Amino acid sequence: MKIALCGKGGSGKSTVVALLAEEFRRRGWSVLVVDSDESNSGLHRLLGFDRPPRPLLDLVGGKKNVRRGLKSGSSEGEGGPELSVLARPQLRLSDLPPEHVAARDRTRLVTVGKIHQALEGCACPMGLVSREFLKKIQTQEGEVVVVDFEAGLEHFGRGIETSLDAVIVVVEPSFESLEMAGKVRELTEGAGAKFLGAVVNKVESPGLASQVSKELEARGVSLLGVIHHHAEIAAAGLTGGPVPWESARQEAAGIVDAVLAGR
Ligand SMILES: Nc1ncnc2c1ncn2[C@@H]1O[C@H](COP(=O)(O)OP(=O)(O)OP(=O)(O)O)[C@@H](O)[C@H]1O
Ligand SMILES: [Mg+2]
Repeated sequence: MKIALCGKGGSGKSTVVALLAEEFRRRGWSVLVVDSDESNSGLHRLLGFDRPPRPLLDLVGGKKNVRRGLKSGSSEGEGGPELSVLARPQLRLSDLPPEHVAARDRTRLVTVGKIHQALEGCACPMGLVSREFLKKIQTQEGEVVVVDFEAGLEHFGRGIETSLDAVIVVVEPSFESLEMAGKVRELTEGAGAKFLGAVVNKVESPGLASQVSKELEARGVSLLGVIHHHAEIAAAGLTGGPVPWESARQEAAGIVDAVLAGR
């Protein structure tokens, strides 16, 4: 099963990715987290890894190489034999060199690539690598891929959602975030992919939760679950530490139940 989380900047996508990944792991699933956000570099820390794995972009000869390939019309670029990893029709994690996969217990992390330099050009090569990887990576029963997208809607223009089994939107209690949830539903369904619903995050009061739920309903977005504002999560966010799973354990469990029921 491959699921992706998207939503407005700062709504809590990466935090919710980490919470859901941990909940799946506790249930005995093998979890692959895919960091598809080309801007933020901290997902490995939220998951409790010391350092990120080598990016997949390096595996295909870097951004320039992919861009050359895009220009020449080949979606796989024109790199050497290494490039053939992503050019394969199907991919298992074991096909990737170990330095590209961070691993701890049943949780794995791969990262697509990050923007490092001024004027290095657009993020299209990362989008292409994300799409090809997510399309080709194979999952079996008991394996879940959880994708952390960059903020906003750009990935929809790249057609990435068609490689996924389901898309979830993370919503914080704000008008812009609610509007984006409605848009994500439209775009996901418009692409023929499955939209599962919204996780409402950083909720401060029960009254606010029911208000957000009504607003979502008005936009045709079903509610997968609510995660309250937890002081421990905010504190870990400030220091760059791992997400304190225990503080939102029950909420994450309810969301995983809803995901499994709705898939
Ligand atoms: N439920 C929560 N309770 C308290 N703080 C939270 C909660 N969820 C997220 N945060 C905090 O909000 C901030 C943004 O969260 P996070 O980085 O997960 O959002 P994001 O949507 O991935 O952001 P970006 O769009 O920049 O990738 C972080 O400091 C995080 O610790
Ligand atoms: Mg993030």
